[in-house]
Parts: sequence; structure tokens; C-alpha cells
Amino acid sequence: FKVPVAVNEPVKTYAPGSPEREAVLAEYAKMYKSTVDVPLYINGKYVKTDNTRTMSPPHDHKHVVGTYHLAEKKHVEDAIATALEARQAWADLPWEHRAGIFLKAAELIAGPYRAKINAATMIAQSKTIHQAEIDSACELIDFLRFNVQFMTEIFNDQPASTSDAWNRIEYRPLEGFTYAVTPFNFTAIAGNLPSCMALMGNVVLWKPSNHQIYSAKVIMDVFEEAGVPAGVINVVFGDAAMITESVMASPDFSGLHYTGSTSVFQSLWKQIGNNITNYKTYPRIVGETGGKDFIVAHKTADAKQVATAIVRGAFEFQGQKCSAASRAYISKSIWADVKKYVIEDLKTITLGSPEDMSNFMTAVIHEASFDKLASYIDSAKKDKNATIIAGGNYDKSKGYFIEPTVIETTDPKYSTMCTELFGPVMTVYVYEDKDFSKTLQLVDGTSEYALTGAIIATDRYVIDEATKVLQNAAGNFYINDKPTGAVVGQQPFGGARASGTNDKAGSAQNLLRWISPRMIKETF
Ligand code: SER
Repeated sequence: FKVPVAVNEPVKTYAPGSPEREAVLAEYAKMYKSTVDVPLYINGKYVKTDNTRTMSPPHDHKHVVGTYHLAEKKHVEDAIATALEARQAWADLPWEHRAGIFLKAAELIAGPYRAKINAATMIAQSKTIHQAEIDSACELIDFLRFNVQFMTEIFNDQPASTSDAWNRIEYRPLEGFTYAVTPFNFTAIAGNLPSCMALMGNVVLWKPSNHQIYSAKVIMDVFEEAGVPAGVINVVFGDAAMITESVMASPDFSGLHYTGSTSVFQSLWKQIGNNITNYKTYPRIVGETGGKDFIVAHKTADAKQVATAIVRGAFEFQGQKCSAASRAYISKSIWADVKKYVIEDLKTITLGSPEDMSNFMTAVIHEASFDKLASYIDSAKKDKNATIIAGGNYDKSKGYFIEPTVIETTDPKYSTMCTELFGPVMTVYVYEDKDFSKTLQLVDGTSEYALTGAIIATDRYVIDEATKVLQNAAGNFYINDKPTGAVVGQQPFGGARASGTNDKAGSAQNLLRWISPRMIKETF
């Protein structure tokens, strides 16, 4: 089978005066001035409910940009029933047609929807244009294109046959319906989780985060225009616990594709376990959850490179990437230089609204996150084991703004070295040069997570030692780079331990979870 060769979508620069900059600013201004109403989407129709909530940008939380509708139990049950009705026709549709739909979705985002999906991500999730572009445009386009290629690689994988036995594998979707639960932090993940399951022939109930609804609506529009048939992807918003309970209670529930917090994922897994005898088939469970991602810098590292990895790795998108670095272990002999460069860099960083494209950072996602981060910063201000060496101020009067904050601690088990905060707070522990090997053990043993991490060094023996000792500490391990910015088709993404099932997003391995192969042997 031959499909168009998947290529990564080039990242646009949004330089002053460029057409893409004008287009996204115009779209942003238009959306900001008007209001949007986002109903549920069931059986190809928009469904309004009696229960609505307003939506506001995190960087301007008193400004209302729209409303969304909350599902009740009956809507969830309708969505499940509708998905099951659509299932057979969708599963029977030759795979080329499913590929055609999602390749078209990629081209719609690359072209006519690019400004819209980026502007929606800037408004809903407070991303800068550069962070929106790498996420809601490029990463989502890449997921759609590469998944089609991975699908054909899977389908081409057929067993050997003999002259009297013809063996073939039929790659069928799971029996029942699947459930996608997606986070606020990546529009690309929100688009990828339901679409990759649908691409493999499954019908889907998709529950986006209540803090990403504006950009989820653009994805819904793209899928509809690309030709996803009614009932194949149904979208419900609202109370996650209620929606999940209805889903898990259905005997036809056959797969969970989840990205979000570790605690919610664990509770979903328990619910599935408790219901296990009720299901027609064992549900597949795939999750990408928390992280406490690290940077280790050896004394042979270039101090400027370490500082750049800290600033970009910890503070892009306000530290709200699952991959964001939030703990660093720096060798004593380079620390003075690293610290000087970090402080210098942070002085040039501005914080504000995303429509001012010179801002490097904007607001964190919501008040609960702001309050949690502020309380950890306040504790650090009072703690004798912690010193705030940069940032430390915050203000929620207009938007949920938190300065990029660096805490230096003398305690490697200090609370912010261990706890996932999901915000712009980086904690640094400075180790004696001679203690490098001991420090690697510390890195491995400090957190229950294992998502991303980086070693920065020039000594190859040291790089090799870190790669070996930290083999289970990060599903995505970076040598001489920041631990963020995985690109689909280049660095499949995911982690183990409390960070998830490590079924890498953007890989054939992930797509394999959404099919139930039938082996057919024919003899002559
Ligand atoms: N691709 C993102 C990153 O690596 C995570 O989804 O930062």
C-alpha cells in the first residue's frame, strides 16, 4: 500500500509583517470581540443542553469569549448508542477512505484553518503564537499525516505463507466503542487521541478538557469538513466523573486513550478493573500522565547551553508541557556561570497577553493552578532550605500570571524537587563535582515519574553512564538538549512508571493498541 510520504509540517516564524502573523492576529481579534457557543456534538449534530458555562482566556479571566454546553447522563448514553450504530459501516469502510479523511483534515489545518486553530489555542489555553504553532498547527498535522503512514506499515505486516497454507492477518477495530479523554495543554493531543482511534476503524466518544473547548471546537469543525461520518467521533463536555461513570458502565466500552493527571488515570483504571466482568472484551488502556522531568548538568557541560535548556525547558508555555523540566541537578563548578546566564536570560523575558507577540510567556491555565503555584512559591520564600534566585512574583488581577521562578535548594528531596507543579517553577540542586554518580542515583530515586529527562555533558563516558543509570527514569531521554519539544515521526513520546503506559504518541506501537487482529489461515 502506498500513501503520501509523511513529512513534518514546517514551523512558520510569524515574523513582523509576515502574512501568517497578520492572519492570526486578525483571527484572534475577531474571536476576542465576538462570542462563540459550543454545543455537544452527537451523531453529526450540535446538541444544546440546559446547562452552560462561560469560557474566558486565562490571561484575561473577566473577559468572556463564549459558552459551552454540559452533558447530562442521557447525552452521554445517546452518544454511546449513536457511536455503536455507526460502528459497523465505519469498520467496513476500506481503510483508504479513513486515511483520505484524516489526510484531508491535516491539509485543512495546514491551510484554511491554521490561523483559526492557532488563535483559538492562544485564547483558550494562553499560548504564545510560537507555542500554538508548534502544537495546534504543526504537531497536530504531523500526527494526522504520520498516523496514516504507520497504519499502512501495520497493515503491510503479514505472516509468511506456504504453497498449501495462505496466512493473513486482518487488522480490525476493537469491538465496541472507545473513549478519548484529552488535556488542556496540547491541542495536538486533543486532536490526536480521538482521530488515531477512528483512523484504525473505531468509533469514539471524546471528552476534551473544559479548559480547551475553544480549540476543541475548531478540531470538531475540521473533522466534520474533512468528512468524518456522523456518529464516528462524538464530543461531550462537562463533569468528567459523571461522563466516565456512564462510559465505564457500558458493556461495549473497549478502550481508553487518556492524557492528563496520574490520579485521574489511576481512578479510571480502578473503575475499569471493578467492572471487568461486565465487558464484552478486555478494554485497552493507554495513558500518558504526570511528570517530574529533569536536567542533569555535568561539570564538562557548557554553562550557556545548560542555562538555555533550563529557560526553554522549564518556562515555555509557562511550564505546562508534560515534558517541561522542573528539577535540575547542576555541578558546583559550573553553577555560578549557569546561574548568571539564567538570571540574564530571564531579565529579557516578558510576560503578558499572547496577542503581543514579543511575550515569551503568558498566563497559567486557571485559578486553582495559579493558587497552588503561588502557595509553593510562598513556602519557598519562608523555607531555610530554599532560596528564590529568580522570579517569585505573581498577580491574578487580570490574568493568572506567575513569573518564571527558579528556586535553589540545599535539600535534594525538597518538596518542589519531588512534586509535580505543572507551572513555571524550576528547582535547582547543586551537587559537588565528585558526586556525579551519586547524583544520578538521586535523580532516579527522587520521583515516581519517568517521562522526560536530559543529560548535558561533553565527556562521552559520563553521557554513557547517565544513559545507563537513568534507563528507567525517562521514556524520552535527551543528550545535550532540553527535555521538551518531541516531534512526531522523529521522537515518539511517552513515559513509564507513574507517567503512563509508554505507548508512544505518534508511533505504530500506539496504533496497534486500537486494533484487534484476526488471523486467517486458508489451506488448499
Ligand atoms: N511533544 C510535546 C513535548 O515533547 C509533548 O506532547 O514537549
